Amino acid sequence: MNFVVQNALHDPKDTTALRFLLGNRPDIMMRWPVVQTLPIWDSAELSNITKKLALRSTSSQPGVGIGSLTIFESIGRGLRRIYCLLEDKHTFDAILVTGGAGFIGSNFILSWVETKGTRVVNLDLLTYAGNPANLAALEGDARYLLAHGDICDAEFVGSLLREHRPRAIVHFAAESHVDRSIASPGAFIRTNVQGTFVLLEQAKIYWSGLSETDQAAFRFLHVSTDEVYGSLRPDDPAFSETTAYAPNSPYAASKASSDHLARAYHHTFGLPVLTTNCSNNYGPFQFPEKLIPLMILNALQGRELPVYGDGENVRDWLFVEDHCSAIRAVLESGRVGETYNIGGNSERTNIDVVNTICDLVDEMRPDTGGRSHRDLITFVKDRPGHDRRYAIDASKIARELGWRPAEEFESGLRKTVRWYLDHGEWVENVRTGVYLDWIKKNYTERVAL
Ligand code: NAD
Ligand code: TYD
Repeated sequence: MNFVVQNALHDPKDTTALRFLLGNRPDIMMRWPVVQTLPIWDSAELSNITKKLALRSTSSQPGVGIGSLTIFESIGRGLRRIYCLLEDKHTFDAILVTGGAGFIGSNFILSWVETKGTRVVNLDLLTYAGNPANLAALEGDARYLLAHGDICDAEFVGSLLREHRPRAIVHFAAESHVDRSIASPGAFIRTNVQGTFVLLEQAKIYWSGLSETDQAAFRFLHVSTDEVYGSLRPDDPAFSETTAYAPNSPYAASKASSDHLARAYHHTFGLPVLTTNCSNNYGPFQFPEKLIPLMILNALQGRELPVYGDGENVRDWLFVEDHCSAIRAVLESGRVGETYNIGGNSERTNIDVVNTICDLVDEMRPDTGGRSHRDLITFVKDRPGHDRRYAIDASKIARELGWRPAEEFESGLRKTVRWYLDHGEWVENVRTGVYLDWIKKNYTERVAL
């Protein structure tokens, strides 16, 4: 591991003591002048240090975080030099992921560490949708750090950027459930609009201070949705990157606003922004408020399967791992300032999806009484303003970046049902009191049709 040495006193050129201390440590690089002084000591400890050199580790996680090693040197007459050895951020290979404890973000981080192996800082507020257990596989891995905080907190976002010097920001953090946006839209405006604004503004400040080379390499990837385009009629062509925005739900409107902000930060300030608009995802770790995991878990529990309206609404389903590989492709080779639509070429009506889930559960966990889980399907009161059909034309990303989805819908759904069957403990943990409150709120007033 490399270290950057930062001298926290005012005389950055006086390196004598450090050279003496670190002279035999070729893995430690010294860089002057001081870029920044970080508050890594507390005054009580400091006052205990007398005329001797003291070395101590200040980080519980070696290799991540600031102040891996702090050196105090008393230089007489009550003066002290304080040196902080930081993990070397100059490699400029870390990425900052927002909302990485959620469904897509956690899948993205796991696959990133596996395929790229570089450091990931995960800025997540851990709302009801954020679950650190999704990333349990990275516990103790020096390449992963959870930074618990709010994307609306400018100071925190700014300090994370200065501290970790990411080469890219991949922005997933959002309130993401349409039904919740109908019940309580305020949180969607705060996180999706205000939060994205704060993140862009802090990214702009950080990016402006980078060297020319690092500026050219930096990317801000804004993850968005196909819902910004509104609703299609049965014979309409699929959404392309030039389809006019027509968001219908408060969720879609908040995401559309954030897309416009991202676009403006590129157009006005030159921030290297990329935007992706993706169709409905499904797969491991999805919170069971969304259609597919809700239906799988209700079926397993022998509960009603509440299908909104006539069940003929169409979504274009994409396996989450395919979304992650698309984001990596856009990050690597996407043209700055461009948007890329990502979809699974898998349009299905909701009732088809629910029937397929029932058939898979019948096969993998048959009902003891021999009944089909399809018997549990109940048509319930529709969602207000319910978009009829979404479909993505993903030809641009295929043409420009060679990306195509790898998973067929039926095989992806089979893997997903299997995953929920095999992860009973995860399921139990996410079904907390808060989750039950939501289920009660959303479904008790949806009388069966
Ligand atoms: P999710 O709801 O599962 O996760 C959202 C994450 O953001 C959670 O970990 C949550 O704790 C975090 N978060 C919320 N507010 C925050 C804040 N103020 N500061 C920091 N973190 C905060 O969402 P998801 O389904 O994984 O979606 C991720 C992104 O992808 C969203 O931007 C969504 O709009 C977009 N998207 C989702 C889908 C889909 O089908 N799920 C499809 C297309 C696009
Ligand atoms: P959802 O997973 O909430 O995603 P989105 O609204 O972003 O597309 O819903 C997918 C579809 O499933 C949508 O048409 C609404 C429908 N739906 C139901 O029929 N019943 C349910 O209980 C839920 C949650 C969704």
